[in-house]
Amino acid sequence: MTVLAILISGTGSNMEEVLHRIHNGDLDATIAFVGSDTAEASGLNRAHLRGVPTEILPYKNGRHEAEDKLEDLWQRHRLDWLVLAGFMKILSPTFVSQHRGRIINIHPALLPSFPGAHGIDDAWNAGVTVTGVTVHMVDELVDHGPIVAQLPVRVRPQDDRISLERRIHRAEHRLYWRALRGLFTGELPFRKD
Ligand code: GRF
Repeated sequence: MTVLAILISGTGSNMEEVLHRIHNGDLDATIAFVGSDTAEASGLNRAHLRGVPTEILPYKNGRHEAEDKLEDLWQRHRLDWLVLAGFMKILSPTFVSQHRGRIINIHPALLPSFPGAHGIDDAWNAGVTVTGVTVHMVDELVDHGPIVAQLPVRVRPQDDRISLERRIHRAEHRLYWRALRGLFTGELPFRKD
């Protein structure tokens, strides 16, 4: 059985969809824990309500200590995959290289366009007519590793920033668990170069 952990920093709607898909059997995996860099993340409560153990990574003491704890958790739970879902900290190159090809992220734009923390705003402000969501492997650069899956979202003439964001989140919820399932089963190959 595939063992995964999910890292969040905020609401955790992507996390919740993945937990739901595990629970109803769509995604054949076991969740070891949901982790966050901050106890303020409201998604922690959502995880707790679903009976999933939660962990706070001590970023307040620096990235080194936080990643030491994450590494301990990884070994203790024998993780196969680490799933980032709105996790706002950047993992160090050392940590990423130790787990290359085992850390996945979702980004609310069609990479390589609009990387960074404001993908939805940046696409909106650029006036694109198509944006979307990307699931990708994490490498040493931000929002950069090999692309696993993408889903386009058309910007409609009647859209405002809020309606676009809502549809992008819906697209994320549709795509992430399916991309994870494809990765876990090996049905969804991705370029490793
Ligand atoms: C998502 O849009 C994700 O792509 C981005 O941060 C947001 C997290 O939302 N990295 P949520 O916490 O999953 O609701």
